Amino acid sequence: MEFNPMSLKEKRFLVTGAASGLGKAASILLSRLGARLILVDINEPGLRDTATLCVSDTALLPLDLTDTKSIKQAIVEAAEKYGKLNGLVHLAGRSYVAPLKSMNIKTTEDVFALNAMAALELVKAFIHRNVCSEDGNSIVLISSVYGHVGSAANVGYAMSKSALHGITKSLAIELAPKKIRVNCIAPGFIQTNMLDGISASFDPEYHSRISGLHPLGLGNASDIANSVAFLLSDMSSWITGSIMNVDGGFTAQ
Ligand SMILES: NC(=O)c1ccc[n+]([C@@H]2O[C@H](COP(=O)([O-])OP(=O)(O)OC[C@H]3O[C@@H](n4cnc5c(N)ncnc54)[C@H](O)[C@@H]3O)[C@@H](O)[C@H]2O)c1
Repeated sequence: MEFNPMSLKEKRFLVTGAASGLGKAASILLSRLGARLILVDINEPGLRDTATLCVSDTALLPLDLTDTKSIKQAIVEAAEKYGKLNGLVHLAGRSYVAPLKSMNIKTTEDVFALNAMAALELVKAFIHRNVCSEDGNSIVLISSVYGHVGSAANVGYAMSKSALHGITKSLAIELAPKKIRVNCIAPGFIQTNMLDGISASFDPEYHSRISGLHPLGLGNASDIANSVAFLLSDMSSWITGSIMNVDGGFTAQ
């Protein structure tokens, strides 16, 4: 039999944000590595599209993750229906570009709910005895270079992403006795719909300026998908509480 240390056969993962961008790319790769998947997103047609590109068993769970109170029940019911999980990756998220003086509290709370509070609720659901497998388990959260470094007109997004770093480290310690690893990926700028949306808020030179901040150039969705697969696989079985910079050198400068 061929040796593939990245194989995810016999494993089941929940992927949020699976309808688009990084979540879609990660779902396709995880399925190609043999994982069964529960795909979560608010965008149901997008979920169906991703499922057609996956080559393993996939179940769809349309969900608004800003409705944080509904997360636990939805995940527990899904695990009872489709089978226990070996991990999850929280790739649903949104940006928020606004200078301090025009920041809207409701929008800031919504961004925080999706990017950070939903992560916490997902992990709370994951540790339910009917959800989490008895084997080693892995949780991957997705922050941003702006969880580490500052940038103007970005505080609403940055506070949600730096919160994920605290969540990752504290939960890694708390959940280690349960054999649940918790790690976070901090991506640089990746060419997805999100970057197109952010670029539209700035001047025409913004895109090339952003590209120039990355010694290796802008990233591709596959760069993040590869790191997600690594952190979910047994290849990373001694890694927990880490913030993995996958940023083309952005934060090395
Ligand atoms: N693209 C980048 O350059 C970049 C860089 C750093 C970090 N990130 C982070 O990576 C993650 C994925 O980003 P992306 O570029 O794939 O963005 P994207 O906009 O392509 O995908 C985000 C997904 O989240 C889903 N979503 C939005 N609101 C939701 C809600 N309320 N409930 C459930 N699902 C919801 C969307 O439908 C979409 O499918 C985000 O957390 C983002 O902050 C992206």
